Formats: sequence, structure tokens, C-alpha cells
Amino acid sequence: MVPRSAALLLAILSAPLAAEVGDLKAFFQERCSVCHGPDGSGRGLAGIRLGGTSLLDPRWQAKQQEADLITSILKGRGPMPGFRRQLSEAEARRLVAELMRPASPRKKP
Ligand code: HEC
Repeated sequence: MVPRSAALLLAILSAPLAAEVGDLKAFFQERCSVCHGPDGSGRGLAGIRLGGTSLLDPRWQAKQQEADLITSILKGRGPMPGFRRQLSEAEARRLVAELMRPASPRKKP
């Protein structure tokens, strides 16, 4: 029998990853917002801009190919690490869609 405390520890250690990938918003907050800001604007913690460009800038977005952004997320780009081990391609695609949505022309404020 595994001692209760060890089983509990295992449950705690293995739970977050499943939850993160199931909930991409939570995953973004946990793994991406440090650099990109909670909203993707590039304003991370304490206003530090590590993510360079704002991912929400419509002029920047207009020049991007979805496939390139997915590759950047999975393989990394410049100072950004790759997330291939945490995300499937489908999940990276959904993340890109989520990130791009707020500035899309369809959704005027
Ligand atoms: C360590 C800081 C850091 C983390 C963590 C990080 N990024 Fe980045 N990200 C960057 C930087 C810096 C760039 C600009 C890279 C460049 O253009 O050289 C970037 C660029 C991007 C781009 C644009 C890529 C392109 O092809 O122009 C996307 C999309 C992106 N990040 C999404 C994400 C997502 C989604 C996550 C979380 C899964 C994430 N980033 C985590 C720092 C980070």
C-alpha cells in the first residue's frame, strides 16, 4: 500500500498539468503571462515587457500566418521557450485563435 500522504502528493503533482492543458486560459496565465501579460498585450508582471510585441496589435496580427505562430509556440522563438512538451499542435492552434480573437475586426469594442 502506498502511504496516504505519498498518494496525495502524487495526486497534487500530476493534477496541474492535466488541468492546464484542458483549460488553455489557465495554461496561458501560468506559462505565458509572465512574458506576454495576462491579456497578451506584452505587459507582463509589474509592467515588464519581455514579450516584445503586443500579440493584440492588429497591425502585427495582420502580418502573421497562423502556422508560423503555432510553430513559434511549439518550437520557441528568440528568448521564448518551446512548449512542444506541454502542448499538442491542436492546443497551440487554439491558443493562437484565442490570442488573436480580441483584436479581430469582427469584434469591435
Ligand atoms: C520567457 C518569456 C516568454 C514566455 C514564457 C512565452 N513567450 Fe511568447 N514570446 C516571447 C518573446 C520575447 C517573443 C518575441 C520573439 C521574437 O520575435 O524574437 C515571443 C513571441 C510570441 C509569439 C509570436 C511568435 C512569432 O512568430 O512572431 C507568440 C504567438 C507567442 N509568443 C505566444 C506565446 C504563448 C502562447 C506562450 C505560452 C505557452 C508564450 N508565448 C510564452 C517571450 C515569451
